[in-house]
Amino acid sequence: MRILSATLTNFRNLAETTLEFSPHVNLLLGRNGEGKTNLLEALNWFALGRSHRGAKADELVAFGQDALHVALSVEEESGAVVACEFGLDRSGGRRLRLDGEPLKGKADLIGRLVTVVFNPDSIGLVRGAPQQRRQFVDQGMAELDAAFLAHLGACQRVLKQKTGLLHDLRRGFGGNGRGREELTAWNRELAYHAAGVCRGRAAYAALLEPYLRTGHEAMAGSVGTVDFDYRPRLESVMKHLISGGGKLPSEDELAGAISAEFDYIMDSEIRRGRPLSGPQFDDFGITLEGVDLRTYGSQGQTRTAAIAMILGRSDVLFGQRRMRPVLFFDDIFSELDRERTRRLQEMSSRDHQVFIASARSDDITGWRPEGLRAWRVQGGRFTAVEGDAITAGD
Ligand SMILES: Nc1ncnc2c1ncn2[C@@H]1O[C@H](COP(=O)(O)OP(=O)(O)OP(=O)(O)O)[C@@H](O)[C@H]1O
Ligand SMILES: [Mg+2]
Repeated sequence: MRILSATLTNFRNLAETTLEFSPHVNLLLGRNGEGKTNLLEALNWFALGRSHRGAKADELVAFGQDALHVALSVEEESGAVVACEFGLDRSGGRRLRLDGEPLKGKADLIGRLVTVVFNPDSIGLVRGAPQQRRQFVDQGMAELDAAFLAHLGACQRVLKQKTGLLHDLRRGFGGNGRGREELTAWNRELAYHAAGVCRGRAAYAALLEPYLRTGHEAMAGSVGTVDFDYRPRLESVMKHLISGGGKLPSEDELAGAISAEFDYIMDSEIRRGRPLSGPQFDDFGITLEGVDLRTYGSQGQTRTAAIAMILGRSDVLFGQRRMRPVLFFDDIFSELDRERTRRLQEMSSRDHQVFIASARSDDITGWRPEGLRAWRVQGGRFTAVEGDAITAGD
């Protein structure tokens, strides 16, 4: 998948412009605060239906303007070129179009443009809270399986209802037995969707692990085996996972087991006034030679594992869907040693379109991959640079 060009209007500090990209490596150079990450954010928005930095629409619209518009020309794996457009109003309105046709919601965006961002925060994939790992796995699985995405959405909706009801029950509302009946009904529905989510997460962990190992070894050398394990919170799921050697039973069977577990913990949940178990508490373990990297990994080890996870996600997508995401590297090379930097640059640009943002041009000294295009970014304006000018003057 490749982004051929982008036309930007009123996106943060970026000047109105059209940029034609290289299908291989695109380099954005510039001092701090000039607009490099803003461009990556604009290119990424369509893939996620949101800002990868978590910014709200009114933060993305240029100061003093009411609306922004971004149009991307994207080449799919088949060679077909599609026009992806989005417009956001400061007041919250938004318009999405694919080849001129309006799209209804975010779910329609999934898989149209697939991107992966790597920035200094990505280390949180290994180090950070379980939510980051769940998000990573869920996004990866959603790209492969629309049914998984539907289960995930339904799970979140039902969980909200259940949480509200538990809250009420604890405060003494919904008594006279009806509250329990209602809770049982929500639990049945939640168990069904939770089964879909847990099966998807287990499947994704199994798909990712071999690629994670290969990628990790390619970057770090033979320093030991990396494992990626699904760690579900639901005991019924954990039990099946162990007895099935990493595989989970059919959706119906698993839903039955989860439902029984929800029944079993119902009284405690009512007493505590909140859900005590479910896929919203799941985690994934990343270990090197059996040692948990979240707790014990060095800076370099965790960073390398996080990069291998992200490249692994691309490999899974390619293995399952023959699709390569567009890669975004935002300011990460300064944190890797030269050897690993160069290996990463070469590994990633072999098969992907890559965008690299850097405030230090010596990150790419001596590296001139095929079809390199470079821009100097200054006050939101882009100037194409070539040859020696690429490394001259930070
Ligand atoms: N809505 C907006 N309208 C206009 N300018 C904005 C808006 N939002 C952010 N900016 C400006 O964008 C600039 C930040 O751009 P960006 O984050 O892309 O920097 P960068 O080049 O990636 O820098 P660094 O190297 O520090 O990461 C800041 O100067 C900020 O004031
Ligand atoms: Mg930046």
